[in-house]
Amino acid sequence: MFSRPSLDSVLALGLVVTGSLVNAGPCDIYSSGGAPCVAAHSTTRALYDAYTGGLYQVSRGSDGATVDITPLSAGGVANATAQDSFCASTTCLITIIYDQSGRGNHLTQAPPGGAASGPDPNGYDYLASAVGAPVTLNGQKAYGVFISPFTGYRNNAVSGTATGDEPQGLYAVLDGTHYNTGCCFDYGNAEVNSHDTGNGHMEAIYFGTGDGSGHGTGSGSGPWIMADLENGLFSGVDPINNPADPTISSRFVTAVVKGEPNQWAIRGGDATSGSLSTFYSGVRPSGGYNPMSKEGAIILGIGGDNSDSAQGTFYEGVMTSGYPSDDTENSVQANIVAAGYAATSLNSGPELTAGSSISLRATTACCTTRYIAHTGSTVNTQVVSSSSSTALKQQASWTVRTGLGNSACFSFESNDTPGSFIRHSNYELMVNANDGSKQFSEDATFCSQAGLNGQGNSIRSWSYPTRYWRHFNALGYIASNGGPHFFDAAASFNDDVSFVISAGFA
Ligand SMILES: *[C@@H]1O[C@H](CO)[C@@H](O)[C@H](O)[C@H]1NC(C)=O
Repeated sequence: MFSRPSLDSVLALGLVVTGSLVNAGPCDIYSSGGAPCVAAHSTTRALYDAYTGGLYQVSRGSDGATVDITPLSAGGVANATAQDSFCASTTCLITIIYDQSGRGNHLTQAPPGGAASGPDPNGYDYLASAVGAPVTLNGQKAYGVFISPFTGYRNNAVSGTATGDEPQGLYAVLDGTHYNTGCCFDYGNAEVNSHDTGNGHMEAIYFGTGDGSGHGTGSGSGPWIMADLENGLFSGVDPINNPADPTISSRFVTAVVKGEPNQWAIRGGDATSGSLSTFYSGVRPSGGYNPMSKEGAIILGIGGDNSDSAQGTFYEGVMTSGYPSDDTENSVQANIVAAGYAATSLNSGPELTAGSSISLRATTACCTTRYIAHTGSTVNTQVVSSSSSTALKQQASWTVRTGLGNSACFSFESNDTPGSFIRHSNYELMVNANDGSKQFSEDATFCSQAGLNGQGNSIRSWSYPTRYWRHFNALGYIASNGGPHFFDAAASFNDDVSFVISAGFA
C-alpha cells in the first residue's frame, strides 16, 4: 500500500532541508521522530526552535498585575530580566505555565481533589514562588518551578493528550536534590476530575523517595524516577524493588516515562552530561494496569487525586502523542545537555558570611528598636540595645552557618544555645536543637535577598520560598504576601519582612 507521507515526516524533511535540525528543540526532535508533543511546559526555555510566545505568567504581590515571560529569542532561554524587573521590591508567583505545543494545555493553580483540598480559601493548591529555583542555561539566568508541599498545577480540560491505552511519551528535567517521601511529585497524565478513579488511570513521571504504596522502589535509598500509574508508584513490574532503577544523585535529572499497549519504560540520566539509561522496559504490571485507562489531564507537583504533600523542582517537560523511540529520546537528551543547565546563587542583596555573628533589626515603623530574638523555643522580637543585659544580647545574636538543608543558603544558630537553630514549624519560627533529620535541616534553611522595602535583607524559607521571616505582634513566622493565615496579611508585608543586619550584640 502506498500512503501519503505523514505531516510529521514532512516536518522532519523540512527541518533537514532547511538545515535547522541542528538547532531543533526537544519538540522538533519528537515531531521528527513521529511522536509530536501535545503539551510542552518550561519556565526556562522554548522547547521548539521557532517558539517565541509566552513561557509562563507571573503575578506580583504589590498590585496583582501579571506579565508573560517570553524567550529572549526564538527557541531561546526565558527573559529572566523581565521577571526580575517586574518583581523588583515585591513577591511574585507563577500563575500559568503555558503549553508551547499550540494546543492550549496550559498549567494553572490546581483545584481541590479527592485526597486534598489546598490551603487556599477556595481549596486550591498554592502557586509556586517565581524565585525559588534560579538556574542558568549556558550562562543565561532563568527560573524553574519550585514545588513546596501544598503547591500544584493542573489542567483537567486538555486537548490531544493520550487517553485509554493510547501511547504517550514523557520527559521532565528536575532538581535531583529536591524531593521528599510525600505523595506525589508527579508530571504527566492523570484523572480529569482530580479524584482517584482507579488503577491505570494515570501515567506520570514520579520523582522522590516514596515507597510506591507497596509496589516497590528502586535500589538504594532514593530518590528514584518511577511511574505513578495510580494507586502505585512503579519502578518496574509489581512486586519488586527494581535493582536497575538507581538512586539519583545528579543535581539536574532527565526523567523519562513512556507507555503503549502492554509495554512501558522508565529511563533517566544526568541532564548536564552523558546519555540516558533504561531502568525498566517491559510489560505492564497486572491488576488493572493492562490495558491502561489514561484520562489525559495534566498534573505538576501533585498526585492524580490532588495529594499535595510532595516537593520537587521542575524546569521543563513534555507529553507526546505516540511512543517515542529510544533514539528520539537520546536526541532530546543531547539537546537538554546542550542547553547547559547549571546552578546559580540563591541569594542576593547584602551578603551574609558563614561563621559571623549577627543581629537582625526590624524596619517596620512601629518596631525599629526591636531585634529578632528568642525566649526558649519561641522566636520573637525584643527591644535590645548596647545597655541590655548580656543574656538578652545573647538571645538576640545568631551565628550564620552554611545551610543545613542546602549549602547554597544559610542556617542561623542560637548564640546562647549552641546546636539549636531557627527553623519553621507549622509556619512559626522556633529555636530547636538540630536533630539531624532531613526535615529539620530543610526547615532550618533560609536564603537571603535584598530587603523587600529597600532596607537590609529579607530572609526567605528555602523549602517554602513564597514565605519570609516576618515579625507579627512581636512573634516570628514564615509568612507569604497575602494568604490564609493572619500573619500572611498583605498590609505592611514588605516592612515586616525586611531586617537590617549588623554585627551580633554578643
Ligand atoms: C527582556 O526584558 C526586558 C525587561 O522587560 C526588556 O527590556 C528586554 O528588551 C527583553 N529582552 C529581549 C531580548 O526581549
